[in-house]
Amino acid sequence: MKTLEVDLGHRSYPIHIGSQLLSNSDLLKPHIQGKSVVIVTNETVAPLYLGTLKTQLSNYRCDSIVLKDGEAHKNLETLNTIYTRLLEQRYDRKTTLIALGGGVVGDIAGYAAASYQRGIPFIQIPTTLLAQVDSSVGGKTAVNHPLGKNMIGAFYQPQCVLADTEVLKTLPPRELAAGLAEVIKYGLLGDREFLLWVKDNMDALKDCDNATLTTAIERSCQMKAEIVAADEREGGQRALLNLGHTFGHAIETEMGYGEWLHGEAVGAGMVMAAEMSRACGWIKQEDLDLAKEVIAAADLPTQPPSKMTPDTFLQHMARDKKVIDGSLRLVLLKALGHAVVTADFDQAALMATLERE
Ligand SMILES: NC(=O)c1ccc[n+]([C@@H]2O[C@H](COP(=O)([O-])OP(=O)(O)OC[C@H]3O[C@@H](n4cnc5c(N)ncnc54)[C@H](O)[C@@H]3O)[C@@H](O)[C@H]2O)c1
Ligand SMILES: [Zn+2]
Repeated sequence: MKTLEVDLGHRSYPIHIGSQLLSNSDLLKPHIQGKSVVIVTNETVAPLYLGTLKTQLSNYRCDSIVLKDGEAHKNLETLNTIYTRLLEQRYDRKTTLIALGGGVVGDIAGYAAASYQRGIPFIQIPTTLLAQVDSSVGGKTAVNHPLGKNMIGAFYQPQCVLADTEVLKTLPPRELAAGLAEVIKYGLLGDREFLLWVKDNMDALKDCDNATLTTAIERSCQMKAEIVAADEREGGQRALLNLGHTFGHAIETEMGYGEWLHGEAVGAGMVMAAEMSRACGWIKQEDLDLAKEVIAAADLPTQPPSKMTPDTFLQHMARDKKVIDGSLRLVLLKALGHAVVTADFDQAALMATLERE
């Protein structure tokens, strides 16, 4: 097992990564302050892992709330069912909320914990690769509003994160690949050596080899934790984590959520960011080829859907959160393993990328 510390002063917390962590109660107990625990999970994850987790918590008053599966349920109504259950059962401010699931469960449970009685202790047990390397680290919690994704939320840090690689074995391959997109992202944005390591170990990663996954998750969380520690509320550096996401969000929005998984759109988006960096003359052709090769090896798309025109891209990109005072900022590569957030790029390079010349 590997342990990382997210360094946020008195709100610092550990991330434990390894296999069979779910059946190791010694990891959880130091982080549970009161006598009661409520597990929030969903109908897909509950039959697989809720029993094992509950067995570890037999010394506590322990309830579970099983949500419907899917992004469509990441909303205020679901949030309210959590509050209602907690209130009906008279759970007090010392109750620890545990999120057992992917990013959807983690985001909803995290915001429930941030807001119930002005904040109760919270533990993340992410069960998708995406949640283990991305959403469970950094303290962003949210639900969707009919008028926008993740529009209601808070920054709220957990007491600890347990990333058990064993649970990834039941993940559908498309979901695993979507998580690998974020792993590749860390290599592209800040660590060329790690990118090469991911390329060389792709088969073991796709086969869910515990030790290989542990290394990949550890390096990914380390990079995210460092960026978050330096910039918790996204003033600057944290935007680097959006590599490939401005193009990717345009694809997701145009295709309708669900058609392309987030990680798939980010895969194609990262290729576009690399292509544009090449068109700006910042990276070499062989770097672009390598980026594409790794993304393709993860079974991710390397180009946007054919129906995406430059106009549809530009329309969606104009609404991106990184647009400040009307100028579009993009995360681009100055070198492989070195990303920058910049509004200072050649417009012709952007158009060439969108036109897919
Ligand atoms: N808070 C953040 O910083 C942050 C960052 C990135 C993404 N997110 C959010 O995360 C969400 C996406 O997360 P996700 O990709 O984990 O999706 P998800 O939570 O919908 O999980 C994907 C699917 O896998 C299933 N599943 C989960 N664990 C499983 C397991 N071990 N075995 C089998 N099936 C399993 C889920 O039930 C679901 O059907 C989005 O809502 C996004 O906004 C948040
Ligand atoms: Zn992402």
